[in-house]
Amino acid sequence: TPVQAPVLDRCGKATDLNSGKDIDINCCPPFSDRIVDYRVPPVFQMKMRPSAHRVSPEYIFKYNMAIDRMKRLPKDDPRNFFQQANIHCAYCNGAYKLQEGQLEGPDPTEVLQVHNSWLFFPFHRWYLYFYERILGKLIDDPTFALPFWNWDNPKGMTIPPMFLDEKSALYDKKRSKNSTPSAVVDLGLTGEKDPLQLVTNNLTIMYNEMIRGNQDVYGFMGKEYRQGDAPDPGPGSVERGSHTAIHWWVGEPDKNGEDMGNFYTAGRDPLFYCHHVNVDRMWTLWQYFIPSNKVPDKRITNFDFLDASFLFYDENAQLVRVRVKDCLDNLGMGYDFERIDLPWLDYRP
Ligand code: C2O
Repeated sequence: TPVQAPVLDRCGKATDLNSGKDIDINCCPPFSDRIVDYRVPPVFQMKMRPSAHRVSPEYIFKYNMAIDRMKRLPKDDPRNFFQQANIHCAYCNGAYKLQEGQLEGPDPTEVLQVHNSWLFFPFHRWYLYFYERILGKLIDDPTFALPFWNWDNPKGMTIPPMFLDEKSALYDKKRSKNSTPSAVVDLGLTGEKDPLQLVTNNLTIMYNEMIRGNQDVYGFMGKEYRQGDAPDPGPGSVERGSHTAIHWWVGEPDKNGEDMGNFYTAGRDPLFYCHHVNVDRMWTLWQYFIPSNKVPDKRITNFDFLDASFLFYDENAQLVRVRVKDCLDNLGMGYDFERIDLPWLDYRP
């Protein structure tokens, strides 16, 4: 059976997976019993997601305004900034129970977990999709597209400057000491300090994750995960590697990883979404742009994958049920990515 969309009134206590303790905030979404099966609307104009290091001052202004408005929405509006962050907590910290009467105990096989499996890319794609539409609606710009943190390219291997401006809605104070204009990301979490060596390591890591390391489609996407399976069957290469490294590299180790380095707080840092747009881009690049000699079939055709579903609130605060099969093609969903070179493509170690 495919993973079913969660039942909202079976959302209960969440667990901090770093410390094993209960989380003291309620990360369940506002309740609604009217669920609509979502249909991706026809695309009239493609949204172009830009590289976050290359955007114009006008873009930064708009993005900042949109996030600011999102923060000012009423607290119980499902589109509110903190409600959006809680989506990650609910789906990742065991708040959704599969059985009735499980609202308290974190029995690990009885909860929904979207990480470390083949649900990782589709879940986060849908999450970003609605987040982007909400922001677009708040500034009345249906073409608004989220930026990607281009950490796979030497020109993007620092935190994009717009997120470091303390006066901006894009700023978050819970970040590690790597949160400076010049620190180069460490995708291998090696502790290396020399920037040139870091760039070389990072490109080698990207080559391995995108090209060399995957024997089959599951090596990239993550292992099979069905309704009622024990969580965490195994992540794909990008999820395990560069993706997780960025979370830890940005989060504050002395504060239990908050914000970026812990599932339940990651979405409170606006940088989270920018990071995940690049993760989403990696999926698109892998599907359509890189040589397929090693993994000739890059699709998962199993029904238990295609028919897995999630719930989100859309830009009109309507609760919708979405399916994995409707998110496999980013162009069909109405967005594309700015074209940037892929210097790791030939970076054989
Ligand atoms: Cu839901 Cu980057 O993790």
